[in-house]
Amino acid sequence: MLNVKTIAVIGAGQMGGGIAQVAAVSGFKVVVVDASAGALGRCQENHGKRLAREVEKGKLKQAEFEAAVSHLNYSGTLDDIKGADVIVEAIVEEAPVKRELFGRLAKMFTGSQILASNTSSISITEIAAAAHGASDRVVGMHFFNPVPVMKLVEVIKGLQTSDATVHRVIELAKAMGKTPIPANDRPGFVSNRVLMPLINEAFYAWMEGVAEPANLDEIMKLGCNFPMGPLRLADFIGLDTCLHIMHVLHRDLGDPKFRPCPLIRQLVAAGRLGDKTGRGVFDYSHPAK
Ligand code: 3HC
Repeated sequence: MLNVKTIAVIGAGQMGGGIAQVAAVSGFKVVVVDASAGALGRCQENHGKRLAREVEKGKLKQAEFEAAVSHLNYSGTLDDIKGADVIVEAIVEEAPVKRELFGRLAKMFTGSQILASNTSSISITEIAAAAHGASDRVVGMHFFNPVPVMKLVEVIKGLQTSDATVHRVIELAKAMGKTPIPANDRPGFVSNRVLMPLINEAFYAWMEGVAEPANLDEIMKLGCNFPMGPLRLADFIGLDTCLHIMHVLHRDLGDPKFRPCPLIRQLVAAGRLGDKTGRGVFDYSHPAK
């Protein structure tokens, strides 16, 4: 039996907020924790809007909306997650910060709680090594953006992760209406190992003048039936996030084929990070665009 009532989501950003929303709609009690009051406020506001939109579209009944909202709690401190059965970390993609957090979580949660990370590329084995005494309960639970829409949860088994933990996370992801698929703990796992070289190649093709960005994207959309072209998708994910993952692939696999395109480095250096800053490859400062 799954035996999960309360899920704590650490990090109230785009991914953490999405995970919390899906968990609440699926009937779990949720506590979202973030040190930033601003981030928590934006997350709560976003939940209200997104869930109301689901009612408008007839995907949620009014009573389900109210139940989901009542399941969602927001806090600025880890003290408020003590009763959680599952902890999903969705904080900044920096290995030392994640290691420090999992060290703390291992001390706080000495029972059977699952300690999951939504990391897109950092080694689960490395994160688990910091969770002294709880490494077997550390697992990757990699959601995709936008979380309420995307079906996949890539379940990552670190070297120390027990089969029982993987099994429970698979059951949990199913209970959240997702399709869990296991992958091993290698740089970029499956999704980003395959996606990032595609995005990187699109930047090289743009840099070499093969096509203008809008045409390049349209070719890939219409020719490969992608919902978004690779450059648009890079903006959507965040160019800084893409570059970070590309660095991990390049460094940890050691193959020059993963070398990040100078153009993506340049855009990130200029602060053009994509949707989140209003400009990346494309300009979003004008709503009509
Ligand atoms: N949050 C929640 N729901 C969202 C959303 C968001 N940010 N964006 C869109 N939606 C939902 C809404 O329900 C929306 O309907 P609504 O506007 O009536 O409310 C519905 O999706 C359709 O959205 P749109 O009509 O605005 O646009 P599209 O039909 O083009 O769909 C899309 C948008 C779902 C984002 C689609 O373009 C898509 O699937 N794009 C590819 C996304 C993708 O590949 N994600 C994976 C990225 S990789 C990743 O996350 C891994 C990481 O490690 C890097």
